[in-house]
Amino acid sequence: MTNSQTTSATQSEEVESWHREQVDAEDYWFQRITLGPDFVTPGWSDPETEKLPFYGLPDDLTGMRVLDVGCAEGFFSFECERRGAAEVVAIDSFPDSVRRFNICKAALGSKAVAYLTNVYDVTPKAFGTFDLVLFYGVLYHLRHPLLALEQLLGVCTGTMLLQTAIHEDPRLVDTPMSRFYPFGMASGKSGEYHDPTIFWMPNRKCVQALTESIGFQDVEVVTANDQVCIVLRARSPVQAPGAAPDQTKAPWS
Ligand SMILES: C[S@@+](CC[C@H](N)C(=O)[O-])C[C@H]1O[C@@H](n2cnc3c(N)ncnc32)[C@H](O)[C@@H]1O
Repeated sequence: MTNSQTTSATQSEEVESWHREQVDAEDYWFQRITLGPDFVTPGWSDPETEKLPFYGLPDDLTGMRVLDVGCAEGFFSFECERRGAAEVVAIDSFPDSVRRFNICKAALGSKAVAYLTNVYDVTPKAFGTFDLVLFYGVLYHLRHPLLALEQLLGVCTGTMLLQTAIHEDPRLVDTPMSRFYPFGMASGKSGEYHDPTIFWMPNRKCVQALTESIGFQDVEVVTANDQVCIVLRARSPVQAPGAAPDQTKAPWS
């Protein structure tokens, strides 16, 4: 090995060790994300095996502009980038999510950008429009699910993929209904966390009805586990290539 090879190997070891320290310094991780050989974030949820096979994400996202709503630590954003997305914009309303996203982003050398933004504040003026909107695992966290869907319709010029937890009463499967949780509910693999940010558990019929009533079209079920969750695919009535916001107008004018 030459001197310069030794120096650059030492530098990359130091950089990786710095990334590992950043990961270790966090006291909570939601998603397991592989950041390198033997280097995985210690999340309690493994989206690679538990979600990715069921969430309808197309294999080829070449050239697409993707919006990842409620990105958490960014598993789906980084996956979209891997599948060829030209630009990935991620938003999350929780500051810690965005900080952990940025730790992963640095370790992966990703170009995806995470904004500390509430879904209610997503507008075409600020964020442009998107070929693909991922709305995974957020609907039941919202006090105002219809408002969120309305905002997403405004920025979607292609497809939305929506995943949500559901509550199905077997006697009322044909009635659009949603159960309200005023004080949150148990969350985590075995219900070990109390999550005060869970408000609504719609049934399957209700998720479809909400999506259609906002104006999404061709709403179809990708995956349904009737007692637990559902994944839907829906098309925007406006079909056009996603476009970045006009920086001469957005977002200040
Ligand atoms: C259950 S996690 C889902 C993460 C990821 N989409 C997935 O499916 O693995 C929900 C995420 O949505 C974020 N979130 C909740 N309410 C939100 C809102 N109003 N606007 C944006 N993000 C929100 C939370 O901070 C959290 O990171």
